Amino acid sequence: MPTQSAAQAKTTATLDCDGKSIALPVVKGTESEVAVDIEKLRAQTGMIKLDPGYGNTGSCKSAITFIDGEKGVLRYRGYPIEELAQGSTFLEVAWLLINGELPTRAELAGFINEVTHHTMLHENFNRFFEALPKDAHPMPVCAAAVGALTTFYQQPETEQSTHETWVRLIAKMPTIAASSYKHSIGQPSIYPDNRLEYTSNFMRMMFATPCEEYDVDPVLARAVDLLFILHADHEQNCSTSTVRMVGSSRANLFASISAGISALWGPLHGGANQEVIEMLERIATEEGSADRFVAKAKDKNDTTRLMGFGHRVYKSYDPRAAILKKACNDVLKRVGGSSRLLDIAMRLEELALKDDYFVSRKLYPNVDFYSGIIYKALGIPINMFTVMFVIGRLPGWVAHWLEMRRDPDFRIARPRQVYVGPTMRAYQPIEMRGGRV
Ligand code: SDX
Repeated sequence: MPTQSAAQAKTTATLDCDGKSIALPVVKGTESEVAVDIEKLRAQTGMIKLDPGYGNTGSCKSAITFIDGEKGVLRYRGYPIEELAQGSTFLEVAWLLINGELPTRAELAGFINEVTHHTMLHENFNRFFEALPKDAHPMPVCAAAVGALTTFYQQPETEQSTHETWVRLIAKMPTIAASSYKHSIGQPSIYPDNRLEYTSNFMRMMFATPCEEYDVDPVLARAVDLLFILHADHEQNCSTSTVRMVGSSRANLFASISAGISALWGPLHGGANQEVIEMLERIATEEGSADRFVAKAKDKNDTTRLMGFGHRVYKSYDPRAAILKKACNDVLKRVGGSSRLLDIAMRLEELALKDDYFVSRKLYPNVDFYSGIIYKALGIPINMFTVMFVIGRLPGWVAHWLEMRRDPDFRIARPRQVYVGPTMRAYQPIEMRGGRV
């Protein structure tokens, strides 16, 4: 337990082991989170700590996003997600996450202008997409395309070139995403239209064709912008930690983001939004009832999980899910779509929130539970749902990569392990290994 030292300025935790006792510094954050700093643990004791899944491990100090999982609090640079969702825009939030402060009018105008004039891809990318199978999932396509951007921008890494890199990433991600979709349906890519704002430009690239224009509904564009804001950052989640890990080897930003895209694809992480819709559609067509599905999700002998439920950090309602649940109704009303899947989702939530299995494990809806319903209502194809998450999460990944690289104590990430394999044994040539053929 932390003990108050005489100086009161710092507290320490005492570790007693094998008759030895060492004092470890205790670090306290601006939101009163407390951590034991074990940087000197191995040097002082020869021991390391073991924490599979890093559930009890802080990998860094960060000033970007604060989450209070018990209270369902999420703030970007101190601003509550509810207020940003209500009053901000995705590009303004991107600037906030990356630069630490809300932009002035001139800064925002300059940033929007920079992004608008970097939305195009090099023409060689047409051959890049053509080279890939038509039925490729767009997530590996996006990961490969972002990695390939390194080959088009090979300048040495400086503050200026790094700025240009993250502007290019934010500007080109919607173009890459839309092109990967168009390729998968055998349609030509649609070039960005610089007269449109960021989200409308993306929706037009997704749904216009050379034969038919697509008039963007501003209400739906605003819904997509809201989704991007809600996904923009979430502190040290799996994909963001991946971006930090890869970037810590001094790999460039394109390569680090490409790795983050791959990590996000996992069904336990960003891939859950696609799994949620597939789950809701299964309940609608096969399972027959939400009640029966919930029973399966609780059954230890059944691998079924209630996708979109549960979270490593939130042990209460994910504030993003609350915002999205309301947005679902607004979008469905606007597009006149069926609320069948939303009705099933709300029935699942109603059942789970009063079922001890979920309540005792503090399993609540997370950001993925309702987002897919909106994407589906907007006409976004199901295998593009996680790509939408990529566009949203990109500023957060960039902000963390920059924060890691600008840390004066920056060093390559290299965890340790506890070895549990065979102890030393002598090599035996194959002719002497009798028994095993
Ligand atoms: C995201 O980290 C982030 O911030 C991620 C994210 C972000 O913005 O970056 O918020 C985005 O990834 C949201 C999570 C999306 N994933 C899902 O919705 C998939 C379904 N949820 C889970 O698989 C799970 O809840 C996790 C992966 C989200 C969290 O897993 P943990 O913290 O490792 O918890 P666990 O798997 O150890 O589960 C604890 C218990 C287990 O039961 P017991 O062993 O105690 O008996 O809860 C059960 C689990 O079986 N459980 C579930 C469940 N989630 C956990 N049981 C049924 N349905 C579920 N969804």
